[in-house]
Amino acid sequence: MKLFVVLTLFPEAMEAYASSSILGVARHKGLVRTEFIDFRDFARDRHRTVDDRPFGGGPGMVLKPEPIAEAVEWAEARHGACRKIALCPSGRRFQQGVAEEYLAEERILFLCGRYEGFDERIVTVLGFEKLSLGEFVLAGGELPALCAIEAVARLVPGVLGDERSALEDSYARRDAPDDNQRGGNQRDGNEQAPRADLDHPHWTRPRLWRGAAVPEVLMSGDHAAIARFRAAEALRRDQLRGLDQLRTAPGAAAPAVRRPDSR
Ligand SMILES: C[S@@+](CC[C@H](N)C(=O)[O-])C[C@H]1O[C@@H](n2cnc3c(N)ncnc32)[C@H](O)[C@@H]1O
Repeated sequence: MKLFVVLTLFPEAMEAYASSSILGVARHKGLVRTEFIDFRDFARDRHRTVDDRPFGGGPGMVLKPEPIAEAVEWAEARHGACRKIALCPSGRRFQQGVAEEYLAEERILFLCGRYEGFDERIVTVLGFEKLSLGEFVLAGGELPALCAIEAVARLVPGVLGDERSALEDSYARRDAPDDNQRGGNQRDGNEQAPRADLDHPHWTRPRLWRGAAVPEVLMSGDHAAIARFRAAEALRRDQLRGLDQLRTAPGAAAPAVRRPDSR
């Protein structure tokens, strides 16, 4: 069973989310375990202090290394060595490939920062890697940690109701061994056809809603035609995303290409 240990100052808030949604299901099935540890419990003074002023001056407070180190050592003595990840806006960018990499780990320990962040020696002395959810700043590492945990947990075999879901999702590894079982973006055995990074769009009942109809081909029963339609739609999304990335890249001139209508 995969174990996620999280050091946080807000264990109840994290537990509330983890006990519902797909994480709750994964825990209920006995496929994933989570343990939320309040590292304030490891503070030694009577005020249970976990932060202090930054050396060199400046605004805000910094998380002290000692309570975090003691919480890590307590957790590792209990469960065994963990891969240690500190959430930090300046860390390695979290992507689906990172979730797939984490899937191979038996135990991961996440550290959620607060205030101005944690003392840098958490990384250099305790051997934490830094992980960022993206180029924005939140008040704490709790939401990024839950995002990473959920992204990994839904890849654990048996967690999702239908195994194909994870294979067909956007950013899924298209070279997975059972990739040829994929329904959605499957290209009729034509292995040379380009494969999209993104999932195709989805529709459900009703067939007509507020004047917008579901594409006819999806109701045709012609599975090859449906697969071709979905593959083309997924590639179209890839192209639109590529154009958006070009348009928003720092210092980029607007692409000369006209952006087709997007969904
Ligand atoms: C207010 S932030 C600290 C920001 C820090 N002073 C900086 O500018 O890089 C407090 C904590 O929130 C978490 N955090 C905020 N944004 C994040 C992001 N994009 N990815 C991962 N963690 C983030 C980290 O754990 C961080 O230590």
